[in-house]
Amino acid sequence: MPELDLDESTVLHGRGLVLRTWLPEDLDALLEACQDPEIQHWTPLPSPYLPEHAELFLDACALRWVHGLASFAILDRDETCLLGSIGFVGLPEDGVVEVGYWVAPSARGRGVATAATGVICDWAFGTLEFNRVEWQAYVGNEGSRRVAERCGFTFEGTLRGRGYQRGEYRDIWIAGLLRSDGRPDVPDATGHQSAGS
Ligand SMILES: CC(C)(COP(=O)(O)OP(=O)(O)OC[C@H]1O[C@@H](n2cnc3c(N)ncnc32)[C@H](O)[C@@H]1OP(=O)(O)O)[C@@H](O)C(=O)NCCC(=O)NCCS
Repeated sequence: MPELDLDESTVLHGRGLVLRTWLPEDLDALLEACQDPEIQHWTPLPSPYLPEHAELFLDACALRWVHGLASFAILDRDETCLLGSIGFVGLPEDGVVEVGYWVAPSARGRGVATAATGVICDWAFGTLEFNRVEWQAYVGNEGSRRVAERCGFTFEGTLRGRGYQRGEYRDIWIAGLLRSDGRPDVPDATGHQSAGS
């Protein structure tokens, strides 16, 4: 495993999507997407999600990259619409990294999360030479679990009280994908609507 040297200028193209670092111009779409109750329910993001939370997230983006947390905005192939977020949500260690994502409500049901997870796994196993990509979700997040399984992750069980969300501990589902695992074909994301359309 080579020393991890993440480059914020990395842009990943594939499966009908573009993954690039977050930019100041994403503020409005980010803020709007994060009003979604599903995102607030299934992630540790602040609730209510206020403009200062979005500003802080964007301001800290470069720092996250420096510390090994790749942080991508998911865009349609024309790079006109913000569709969601994907990145490394735990510090990579010993060839293992955890991926996390959300998709804006208006962009759901078009394979965006599945395609973006496929793209980031290609990068993690290829360029970055990780051995294992992990997925975690609060117990009951069937949609996220389905995305992971579509990408070839193997469900591994429940970690009791492993998640911490806004002052409360929650049980966590965990799944893993190894570099040596066979991976199913992941289709392109279809259609593109912005978070605000
Ligand atoms: C979960 C989430 C990322 C799915 O995004 P998406 O782009 O709509 O997912 P996809 O279109 O790639 O769907 C992949 C599969 O999951 C299924 N799926 C998606 N959401 C689902 C849900 N809520 N319940 C059950 N299945 C669901 C789809 O039907 C599809 O199944 P198929 O391959 O058998 O047709 C999105 O709903 C979301 O952002 N939710 C709130 C935040 C969140 O939960 N983030 C993950 C935290 S671990």
